[in-house]
Amino acid sequence: MRQNALEVSELWVSFEKGSKAFHALRGISFSLEKGQTLSLVGESGSGKTTATRASLGLIAPTKGKVTLLGVDINNCSKDKLIETRRRCGYISQNPYDSIPPTLTTLDAVAEPLVICKGLNKKTARERAKEMLSVCGIVDEVVLNGRVKFSLSGGQKQRVALARALVTDPEIIFADEPTSMQDASNRGDILDILQEYVKKGSSLVLTTHDLYLAAAATEHSIILFHGKIMEAGPSKEILKKPLHFYTKALLDALPGLGKKIKKPSLKQGEPEYRLSGCPFLTRCPRGIDKCSKTCPPIKEVSPGHFVACWLL
Ligand SMILES: Nc1ncnc2c1ncn2[C@@H]1O[C@H](COP(=O)(O)OP(=O)(O)OP(=O)(O)O)[C@@H](O)[C@H]1O
Ligand code: SF4
Ligand SMILES: [Mg+2]
Repeated sequence: MRQNALEVSELWVSFEKGSKAFHALRGISFSLEKGQTLSLVGESGSGKTTATRASLGLIAPTKGKVTLLGVDINNCSKDKLIETRRRCGYISQNPYDSIPPTLTTLDAVAEPLVICKGLNKKTARERAKEMLSVCGIVDEVVLNGRVKFSLSGGQKQRVALARALVTDPEIIFADEPTSMQDASNRGDILDILQEYVKKGSSLVLTTHDLYLAAAATEHSIILFHGKIMEAGPSKEILKKPLHFYTKALLDALPGLGKKIKKPSLKQGEPEYRLSGCPFLTRCPRGIDKCSKTCPPIKEVSPGHFVACWLL
């Protein structure tokens, strides 16, 4: 039996907003086998980054359990947590936060090799230079300049990619890794991630783009207001989305020869609902039951799950 790289079980993450608790994740569960790939998909504020950071132990859950590379990361020693994180690669949504600004570009990528792999500085710099070249950063002035002064946003994101991958991580968390790239570089970044998957890494990708999810990962989880609306094989979801929310996400995306449809949803800021279906205030088909009870997630075809009373 293949082992899981990540198991997330009934995970709740709550933040204080004013005097109230705001639940950014509400009991989500999923798992990822070693060597497999998964996308977390949803609109802004759906909880993708929170799920990513909680999976790495960077945010403590309010309830639930995360097992990362076989380690119960919320019930282990600090040393074990650090050791486990060193086996992971994390490309943060905001590369400005994830690279030490005062280091040179070369040292920013060499640093994890010195810390996590115990390489000496010279060897680490040579390896970092190769990795940066793979990620499209070859200019000596940029390599030797300080991160703070010498990199554009897109370059910073590629340096963050190099820094995350240089240690050959067992699992990669890539939070919107192409968001600052022009069209010509996006494919390159996905190709680099795929190379690591081929070598055995697992991948958790975060995106709002169902096409990207289907191109890059085997499975997708569709999140809305911290709950899973639909989950299953990425290509199947792209071809035959079932949940009204997934259909709306797809309608809103441009595609070759495809007219961008206005999503057939109720307009306006969606109300954050604590009871009933979270999607009710946007749903074109809500029924009485939807306001009272939250639909459970159920398997509608092998491996394809959806949370909706009408499906
Ligand atoms: N530290 C925090 N304190 C309070 N609220 C937070 C905090 N971090 C996230 N949130 C809230 O949790 C919700 C989920 O945020 P999250 O960043 O996970 O969304 P996301 O799906 O990654 O969005 P985006 O696509 O914009 O990156 C949002 O409503 C956000 O405002
Ligand atoms: S459960 Fe009801 S409100 Fe929620 S998506 Fe289905 S029909 Fe719409
Ligand atoms: Mg995010």
